[in-house]
Amino acid sequence: MIFRQLFDSVSSTYSYLIARRAGGEALIIDPVLERVDRYLQLIDELDLRLVKAVDTHVHADHVSGLGALRDRTHCTTVMGEKSRADVVAMRLADGDRLAVEGVAMDVIYTPGHTDDSYSFLMGDRVFTGDTLLIRGTGRTDFQNGDPRDQYASIFGRLLKLPDETLIFPAHDYKGDTVSTIGEERAFNPRLQVKSVDEYVDVMNALKLPNPKMMDVAVPANMRIGLHQDEIARRGWALGAHEAMQVLGRTDVAFVDLREPSERARHGVIAGSLSAPYPDLAAHLAPGGLIAELAGAGKRIVFYCAFGERSAMAVQAAQDAGIVSALHIAGGFNAWKKANGQVERL
Ligand SMILES: [Fe+2]
Repeated sequence: MIFRQLFDSVSSTYSYLIARRAGGEALIIDPVLERVDRYLQLIDELDLRLVKAVDTHVHADHVSGLGALRDRTHCTTVMGEKSRADVVAMRLADGDRLAVEGVAMDVIYTPGHTDDSYSFLMGDRVFTGDTLLIRGTGRTDFQNGDPRDQYASIFGRLLKLPDETLIFPAHDYKGDTVSTIGEERAFNPRLQVKSVDEYVDVMNALKLPNPKMMDVAVPANMRIGLHQDEIARRGWALGAHEAMQVLGRTDVAFVDLREPSERARHGVIAGSLSAPYPDLAAHLAPGGLIAELAGAGKRIVFYCAFGERSAMAVQAAQDAGIVSALHIAGGFNAWKKANGQVERL
């Protein structure tokens, strides 16, 4: 197991790089923009391949590294379904699994610090974002924060985990790096309350100044989506209605880049083939699924959840010499909004 806790001293943010083995797929949680060069260097040194970049919530105190990591590694950006960020490639809900090769985490929706805060449970450890900190809890006074929700998230969800579960938060301002559920239940001063109302009073009495970076970070973190205009300008994008016109044609193959869990949860476009995005390079290589389809004279129409992975796939296909490849702008989300037919698996 490769597990690295990385620190940004400007915003006191912890980011986590995780992989099962050298040479394998990696994911990073809560990367900071200014540290992206450092992450990429480490990923290279450890011989990893970054496949997913995940934010626990829209951060107010630093600019997220998600967009920069996607642009430089073509990884999949991931956030919770409640996030108001413009475009992320993959959105997860409570009960979903966040996975890369050999690594799987349970997604726990833990609102309160913000209404888009999620925690990720991986075996003996939980990444709590700013929901539960070491001897503290994330403030609840902006970004639709709510102390009542936070109480429910902490007492109703996180503190239900086994006492020995390790807590890895998104921040620490005192130099602590890790805690446990049992330790926080016993010693976290904010959790020594007898009722939700008492917790609400504690949180509402904090009167904290806004983070220095807030006016910069929040707007930047709401606009992290890939710019897809260039793909459209080159004629490589279909609107959902245009895609419906060519569905079923024998010279067209619809290729779904989403993961099996997304296909099962949201449904698929009838007749589409599954080629999950992390395996794209193999599918485009000679002998791969997409190369074979294109070689047989089929025009490839990629789609994913929101059009981000498929936009990157069109570019990769073009680079691999598959020049007729297209994608559905806005992805399956746009397809559904346009009342495209959805087949349930
Ligand atoms: Fe936060």
